[in-house]
Order: sequence, then structure tokens, then C-alpha cells
Amino acid sequence: MATPEYTPFVFLLLLFQSSVWGFPVCQTPQESPTCGYKSCHATKPGMLNVHLVPHTHDDVGWLKTVDQYFYGDRNDIQHAGVQYILDSVVDQLLKNPDRRFIYVETAFFYRWWKQQTDDMQNTVKQLVNEGRLEFVNGGWCMSDEATTHYSAVIDQMTMGLRFLNDTFGHCGRPRVAWHIDPFGHAREHASMFAQMGYDGFFFGRLDYQDRNRRMVAREQEMLWRASESLTPPMADLFTGILPNGYNPPEGFCWDQSCDDPPIRDDPDLEDYNVDDVVTRFLHIAHGQALVYKTNHIIMTMGSDFQYENANLWYKNLDKLIRYVNQMQSNGSEVNVLYSTPSCYLQELHRANLTWPLKGDDFFPYADSAHDFWTGYFTSRPALKRYERISNSYLQTCKQLEVLGGPISRKGPFGAGDSETLKKAMAVAQHHDAVSGTEKQHVANDYARKLANGWAHCQVLVSNTLSSLSGSSAPRVYCEHLNISVCPLTETMNVYNPLARPVSWPVRLPVNGTAYRISDVVPVSQATAAVRRGRGYAVNELLFQVQAPPLGYSTYSVSLLQNGPPSPQSSPLPRAPKAFLRVTFDPETGLLSSLSNLETQQTVKLSQNFYWYNASDGNNSESIQMSGAYIFRPNTSTPFIISKTAKIETLQNSVVQEVRQWFSPWVSQVVRLYTDSRALELEWTVGPVPIGDDLGKEVISRLDSSINSSGVFYTDSNGREMLQRRKDYRPTWNLRQSEPIAGNYYPINSRAYIKDDKDQLTVVTDRSQGGGSIQDGSLEIMLHRRLLYDDVRGVGEPLNEMSDIYPEGLVVRGRHLLSLSPPATAADTHRPLAQEVVLQPSSMDFEKEFSGLQAVLPPAVHLLTVSQWDQDTVLLRLEHQYQASESKEHSQPVTVNLQKLFSTLDVLGVSEMNLSANQWKDEMTRLDWKAESGTHHTGVTNQLSAYSAL
Ligand SMILES: *[C@@H]1O[C@H](CO)[C@@H](O)[C@H](O)[C@H]1NC(C)=O
Ligand SMILES: *[C@@H]1O[C@H](CO)[C@@H](O)[C@H](O)[C@H]1NC(C)=O
Ligand SMILES: *[C@@H]1O[C@H](CO)[C@@H](O)[C@H](O)[C@H]1NC(C)=O
Ligand SMILES: *[C@@H]1O[C@H](CO)[C@@H](O)[C@H](O)[C@H]1NC(C)=O
Ligand SMILES: *[C@@H]1O[C@H](CO)[C@@H](O)[C@H](O)[C@H]1NC(C)=O
Ligand SMILES: [Zn+2]
Repeated sequence: MATPEYTPFVFLLLLFQSSVWGFPVCQTPQESPTCGYKSCHATKPGMLNVHLVPHTHDDVGWLKTVDQYFYGDRNDIQHAGVQYILDSVVDQLLKNPDRRFIYVETAFFYRWWKQQTDDMQNTVKQLVNEGRLEFVNGGWCMSDEATTHYSAVIDQMTMGLRFLNDTFGHCGRPRVAWHIDPFGHAREHASMFAQMGYDGFFFGRLDYQDRNRRMVAREQEMLWRASESLTPPMADLFTGILPNGYNPPEGFCWDQSCDDPPIRDDPDLEDYNVDDVVTRFLHIAHGQALVYKTNHIIMTMGSDFQYENANLWYKNLDKLIRYVNQMQSNGSEVNVLYSTPSCYLQELHRANLTWPLKGDDFFPYADSAHDFWTGYFTSRPALKRYERISNSYLQTCKQLEVLGGPISRKGPFGAGDSETLKKAMAVAQHHDAVSGTEKQHVANDYARKLANGWAHCQVLVSNTLSSLSGSSAPRVYCEHLNISVCPLTETMNVYNPLARPVSWPVRLPVNGTAYRISDVVPVSQATAAVRRGRGYAVNELLFQVQAPPLGYSTYSVSLLQNGPPSPQSSPLPRAPKAFLRVTFDPETGLLSSLSNLETQQTVKLSQNFYWYNASDGNNSESIQMSGAYIFRPNTSTPFIISKTAKIETLQNSVVQEVRQWFSPWVSQVVRLYTDSRALELEWTVGPVPIGDDLGKEVISRLDSSINSSGVFYTDSNGREMLQRRKDYRPTWNLRQSEPIAGNYYPINSRAYIKDDKDQLTVVTDRSQGGGSIQDGSLEIMLHRRLLYDDVRGVGEPLNEMSDIYPEGLVVRGRHLLSLSPPATAADTHRPLAQEVVLQPSSMDFEKEFSGLQAVLPPAVHLLTVSQWDQDTVLLRLEHQYQASESKEHSQPVTVNLQKLFSTLDVLGVSEMNLSANQWKDEMTRLDWKAESGTHHTGVTNQLSAYSAL
């Protein structure tokens, strides 16, 4: 069995490990006569049809925690209780079969559903089967688009959509993706939604200049061609911009939280206002019709946490529909109806028009000239890192659940599970979670949930390892290796979740100076300072470990002697093949050049730290402050922290290190590992001083001799790369009003600059914001400490402190730099980024083990191995190279699934869509036509049919 042809598409399979031969029974979906597109109300062809969409926007944590929102706890912070919303809406839907409601966030719906009686569950199933309650989007949350990694987004969508399918079957499958609140939109998200089978996508926020132009040109609805590698229409997604964010039109908010007048329709009473309401409504509808293409328009009747008392909304909407439609007998040509996004989408599809094509993305988002939402790309850097390593650990946990079998969940170490971490990770993808735009107590809650998930996975991992190795010694996981704190064990084990072998430097804190297997280096002053009493080791043991694909290897660490290292204490140096050379300016202590010794290329390269003075709002052009969402420096010239760095160097058989000290709150270690194709810059920033009453946004800036001509490149959710040009947007003529913030883009896992000869790539260890303000320069924002709220709702300045760092958070992270000819650069940075995203975890094993029989080809990334149900495993393989990105790897590849796993017998395979809620052969999507003449990107790769067995 083989996957015959290449496409950089993620495909999915179910593997059977049971003794039952055969394919899963693909049930033909029970065609309910009324759900989905069939349940839409009739429209009137000759009229302007206004689709009223009752909805609520329920953040999975923001000002309150997700659980506080569910219960309606802490209404002193914000009045919001999702359980009451669902209670009330169901009640109101039953009162009038014309009424419709959509629900979006499965994290909340799942909590509510578990608490309902059988009767109520049956009632709700009925509503879903009749299309009166419709799920849209349907992921566990509405993910952030700038700071999330595609792997975690796919996981959280899979979890939400699976619950809906398991609970409601075919009628529970959302047709429409709905990201009404995220602060800018990523092309990779659109590509994923297309591959998940959605027919269309609606959102609310885009740059104000872009919106204005699109309104005039009637281009608020378009076809998004979301991949340069996939053959259309695989990654084509119909995309619509909602008319008023996601709010009702002005004057028509009938929630208990609103003050608009109700419809007073008894002529005998005072203040009869039906004529006034109808006139105002018709005026708004006609105005809206001018900026859209068809005789259908949509109005979002709801907002944040609305419908807690749904009667208010529905009673007035019933009347609005009745009174506006009554005017038809007097010649009005406006028809109002209860609708859903999919019913609206269906009408757009029936219109049989051609739509403008969109090829780039919707970043950055500005809602006015000085209000660029580019700060949250970096906000809460420690949470962003914790989320990223939690994803890595979750993948390890899921793999070991599969490799260990049932004993992993119930074994010598007790009951373990991957579910808890899956849920915590899914919640963390929300657009006020990993984005860093929540209140501090909510950020703490996300971190607590993740930590709890780790604890459950640790039991599972221990059970699996003891089952694989036959030993029940307790397992240790080092959570604070980043600051050289770890309980030292005698054996060191490393699990590698990638489908190819990796070599990885491991550093362990120790006091001794000589060990059998490795080199010892003193702990740096910066590390000693950030530990704050959580560890006292004076040295670090440093060694390269090699681990097989989906497997582990063991290293024993034994102390030879205390005292200075003796010559025989070092392992025999393997003839080191150096790939890179770096030089430092002896005067300043700064980096001065980087060379690739294989390709014999050298660039001038310096690097230093700076900070932007965050705007406090006291400014003649605008009163906008820098805050959790918005980045607004007071001046375009950043302040240098120090022109020189005090340096200290050390070298052994594994690594050469230059330790740079810039100030009491900024230091860095530049590391060149033997055998590595990347230079590591490990930065430590904080506590950012604010004694001068100035908010600070700290950047690392690389300045090189590369002639980048105003262009740089960033990844989209960690996957495909996008070109960015200074002061330029591909789809409109930009009037640039913020020279720094308006040139910042999300960097999820990497960014690069290049010219004809040289490409300098930086791989990051978490999501960050960055830009290329000068040619040859690349800056990445590391940390932000701000003194004012930016008035976008969170109501707190982003000023992070913790028990350990009461005077301000200290953050540490890594940038990996590589230099290559542009034609082969992806061959280095793709695997590098994967190693950072799915990093080996060090834990205890007793022998070497690999879950794979064969290494996957370098172009193929094993994205998911996860227990699906008792006999089946969900597998996702991904071609990780973009079309024409690599001569060697952007080619079709074949994988033999039969021979892939060492512990699993593959008995059958069945292909699913990307989110695993639909069999691939049942996947049909609405087709849309693009306007000819709109720019097409050259797409050349052939999509081939997939066949199994
Ligand atoms: C229609 O017009 C007639 C005559 O102007 C008026 O009496 C009637 O109230 C109108 N109907 C509605 C629904 O406004
Ligand atoms: C859609 O429009 C095309 C012309 O652009 C026409 O050939 C086709 O028949 C139309 N389809 C329907 C269903 O009206
Ligand atoms: C290392 O030495 C410090 C004192 O210098 C001590 O506090 C710490 O417990 C020792 N750690 C280990 C792992 O032996
Ligand atoms: C080190 O990693 C832990 C998670 O394991 C994280 O909570 C902490 O903030 C990190 N420390 C620094 C200084 O980045
Ligand atoms: C969806 O759920 C139904 C049962 O409700 C099940 O039969 C079907 O296989 C599921 N579809 C997928 C793709 O898992
Ligand atoms: Zn929101």
C-alpha cells in the first residue's frame, strides 16, 4: 500500500490495530430531510433578502476564565453566563419553529450538554435535525490566527468537530467557518478550513483601509486561494466580511445588555414606534445592499455573551420580521427572514457569480490610522512558549498512548490520560488565550490547566515506558531545564516525537565537574539569576543525544570525579564537521559575521537588543496607547540597551559559547554546537525596568549585509511562507501611518530575508511579532512591559509579574539562525523548525526503542498519531515542503504505511478530511468561480487521487 503521488496536503488515515480485518463501515449519512442547506427558509428572488442571524459570541476565557463564563460566576467582572444562554435559547427556539440560532464554541456546548437530561438532549437533537439550532465553526474554540501553530489548531478543531459528529451525526457538521472576532486572518487558517470541508468562511475584522476599498468595489465577498502549493480548488475558500463586525446594526440591539428601544407596537399605548423602526431598518438594509453584490445581505443579531435572556431578542425579531415584511403589500421590496450563515452562503452560491480572488492574508489588522493590532503577536511571551512546548508534549503523550496500548491509561503509575492536556491545549488556542489578550488571572488559569494536563500525561507516559521497558522505576521529567533546574537522575532518556532520527543537545544542571559521557560548563550568571531559589547547581552537563524516530534512547550520567575536568573525561571528539563560523567584534562584543562553511558564503551580521518606548497616549496624532493588543511606539527609533556587551567565551567538544551581558536585565548566550547547521541565540530579558515610567517593548535586531530590498518573509501558522513588503499591501494602496507597527507581522515559527546569494533565516521557539524596517535587517519583538491599557476591552495594562519575579517577568527563549543559498534554504529551516516545534522530551527509559520500522522520507512530517477509538488510530502525514521551495524535497513522495510502525499491524486504512469529521469520499464542497483577470499565483502541482491498499 502506498500513497502514490505527492501533494503538500495533510491526509488522514485510520489504522486498525485490532484483529478485525476490513474497513470501517462508512455509514451513509442519515439524510435528515431538513437540516443543513435544506432547512433554510425560502427567500424572494425579486427582492432584497435580509438574513437575520441570531448568535452569541462566547469567548473561551478573556476577562473571566472559561469556567467562570460557563457558570456566570464573577458577574462583577463581566455579566456573562453561557449555561443560561443555552438554556434560554433552546426554550425560545421551541416557541416558534421559524426561529434560528447558531452556536460556535464546542468547549461551552460540551459542558452544557453533559448536564442535560435525556429528554432535553433529545429535544436539542430534534432542533439540530431540523436546522433550527445550527453549529457553525464548531471547533473547541474560535482560535487565534496570528499566534497559533497549525498543528494545535487542527487538534482543537478535530476535538470540537468530533464531539459534534459523535453527538449529532451528519446534522452536527458545520458547513461554515466563523471567525468573527480574531484580530486579523491567516492564510493557513483559510487553507485548513478548506481542507476541513467547509463551504465558506465569515469574519468581522480587517484593516479599515482594506474594508473601505472593498465596500466601494463591492469586494467584501471573495474567493480566498489560500495555498500556493495546492491545486485549486483544494485550498479555495469562499470568504465573506460581515457588515458590522459581528454586532447588530445600530439601534437594533435587543439584548438585556443593550439600551435600544423595543418595538412598541400597540397603537393605543404611548410611544408607538413601528413605523420608525421599519423606516430605520429599511434605510440600513438599503445602505448595506449597496456594498455587497447580490440581493441577499446578512445581519448578525447578537454579540458578546448575548441571549442570556433570549426572549428579549426573539420577541423583537419576530415583530421586526412581521412589520418589515408587511410593507411588501405596499410595494416594499425588502424581505426579512430568520437565517444562518450557511443559508446565507447557499444564496450567494445560487447567485452563480464570479468572485474576486484573494492570495495574501489579512495581517496586520488596523482599525484606525494609529491602531495596529500587532502587539499581541508578542504579548505574554512566557505563556506563548508554555503553549508551544505543551503542544510538543501532547504529541509525545498521544504517541505513547498509541504505542503503549491500554496499559498507558491504567498501569503501575495509576490512571493517566491525554484527554486533559488535549482539552487544556484546545482552550489555549482561543483568540484571547495564546494571543496574550486576556486578564492576568485568566492567563494564570490557562497555564494551570496546561500544567494539570501535563500531570495526567506524565502518568500515561510513565505507564507506557514501564510497559515497554519492563521496569517500574519512577520517571522524572525536567520542566525547568530552560533555567538549569532539574532533579538529576543517573540515566537520561530522550523521547523523539519526530518520524526521523534527531540529534539534540541536552543540558543538565549538576555540581560535579567531570562526567563519563559529556562536557561540563559552568552555569551562566544570567541563569543563576533567573532561577530564584529553584536550583543551585553550579555547572551544566552538556551532551548530544541521538534518538530514533518516535522513539527513545538512554544515556547514563555518572560522576567521575569532582575537581577540574581531566583529559580522559571528555568523550573522544568525533571529527567535528563544522557547518558555520561566526565572528565577534572584539571592541563591542557583538556578532560581526556569519559564514556557512559548506557553501562558502559569508554575510556581515550584527545583532543587538533595543526597546521601543510604548506610547502612553499623550500624543498629538492620536491618543492610542500601546497595550496587550496594540503596538504603538512613541518614536520610530528604538533605544539601544547597550552598544557593547561584556563577553565570556568557552568551548568544549560539543559547543562553543559566547556569553554576552548587555545590562542587568538583558543577556544572551550565542551557541554554536558541533554538527549544527544553526547558530543558537538564547536571550534572557527581564525584569524590564519601568522606574522611569516608560513602557518598553524589547526587540532583538539582526543587521546584515543582505540586500533585501524592502522584502522579508514570514510563515503562516508555522506552515507556508508569505512575502511581506515594507509599507505595502498586495491588495490595496496602503497609506502607511505607523512606520514600525504597520510593518509588523506574526512570526509563528520562522522569518527570513534574502537576496540573490544569501538567505538568513531565523527560527523562533514561540510566536512573536517582527518586521524588516531597514534593508538587511530583521527585528523580532521578545518581551513587552506596558503601563497602560489600550482600550480594546481587556482593561489591564500588560505588566506581567509573578511570585518568582515580583519585580517583573523574566523571559528566556531561543532564536536559531541559519545562512544558506536561497535555493536550498528550506532544506535547513523546515526540519529545524519542526525540531523546535516537536522537541524531544527528556525522560526515563531503559533501552532504545523506536515506534517506527522505517524513517519517513525527509519531505514527510508525521503530524498526528493518536488513539481514535479502541481499534483505530488517527494518523496524519504531511508533505512539509511548499511547491518549488526545495529542488530536492518539493517532489512527490511515497510512504509505505504497511511497513511504517513497529508495534502496530495495519489492517485497514480509510481516508478522512483534515479535521477527521468526514470520510474523504463523502467530502463535497460548494464550488465557486473566481473572476478572471484577478491575479493568479502560478500553481503547478498536480493533485492526484489517493488510494489505499
Ligand atoms: C399601506 O399603505 C396604506 C395606504 O397608504 C396604509 O393605510 C397602510 O397602513 C399601509 N400598510 C402598512 C403595512 O404600512
Ligand atoms: C451559471 O452561469 C453560467 C454563466 O456564467 C451559466 O453558463 C450557467 O448555466 C449558470 N448556472 C446556473 C445554475 O444558473
Ligand atoms: C549543588 O550545590 C549547591 C550548593 O553549592 C547545593 O545547594 C545543591 O543542592 C547542590 N545540587 C546538587 C544537585 O547536588
Ligand atoms: C521555563 O519554562 C517553564 C515551563 O516549563 C516556564 O513556565 C518558564 O516561564 C520558563 N522560564 C523562562 C525564564 O523562560
Ligand atoms: C460521525 O458520527 C457517526 C455516528 O454519529 C458515525 O457513524 C460516523 O462514522 C462519524 N463520522 C466520522 C467521519 O467519524
Ligand atoms: Zn472574542
